[in-house]
Amino acid sequence: MRELYPFNFRRLYASYPRSAVVATSYDGEHKSALSLVWHTPLSFDPPVYSISVSPKRFSHDVILKALTFAVHFFPYERAELVERIGSVSGREVDKFSRLPLPHFMSPLKNPILEGAYLVLDCEYLDHRLVGDHTLIWGEVKRIYYDPDLVEVAEDGGTDLKVLKPTLYLGRGRYITVDVGSLKRLR
Ligand SMILES: Cc1cc2nc3c(=O)[nH]c(=O)nc-3n(C[C@H](O)[C@H](O)[C@H](O)COP(=O)(O)O)c2cc1C
Repeated sequence: MRELYPFNFRRLYASYPRSAVVATSYDGEHKSALSLVWHTPLSFDPPVYSISVSPKRFSHDVILKALTFAVHFFPYERAELVERIGSVSGREVDKFSRLPLPHFMSPLKNPILEGAYLVLDCEYLDHRLVGDHTLIWGEVKRIYYDPDLVEVAEDGGTDLKVLKPTLYLGRGRYITVDVGSLKRLR
């Protein structure tokens, strides 16, 4: 192995692909939507999900005012939409009318976007500035899914019916999984 020096953490694309999702929110005045690759579950019980959002994003202040957010997983066929949502700011363009983004509002008042196969409707728990991003975490209050793409077990567990998640490789490159590479080790 060689040590990479100097390194560019901003372009650590050799550690990708990462799953690309879209987080939406509504603060009573503005609806926001941004794409994210920095997101992760933090706890099973209670169910907690986190997103890492730069304070530069329009969505940042909307989410921290709304104190709710919804995380959307889109199939690979919608990668163009994920790229467009992540390429323009709600400060300049109303993405909801311009793209457009058909949606309904969840009981938490989060916009739930059409075309996602899985959506986590989250209520804010806390946030913390970590360097140049804000880690925001919330409790998953409900989950929406598309029955054509997601299979649900009796215990409420879910699986993808069609293995086509949207994965991001950096620099506008998207990829999905190769079903032929599946290994069943258990
Ligand atoms: C695939 C992809 C992943 C992204 N991941 C993140 C991320 O994890 N955190 C973040 O703050 N911005 C991320 N961005 C950038 C925002 O999505 C982008 O700046 C967006 O235009 C912000 O919109 P807003 O200003 O309306 O909130 C990503 C963009 C793309 C295309």
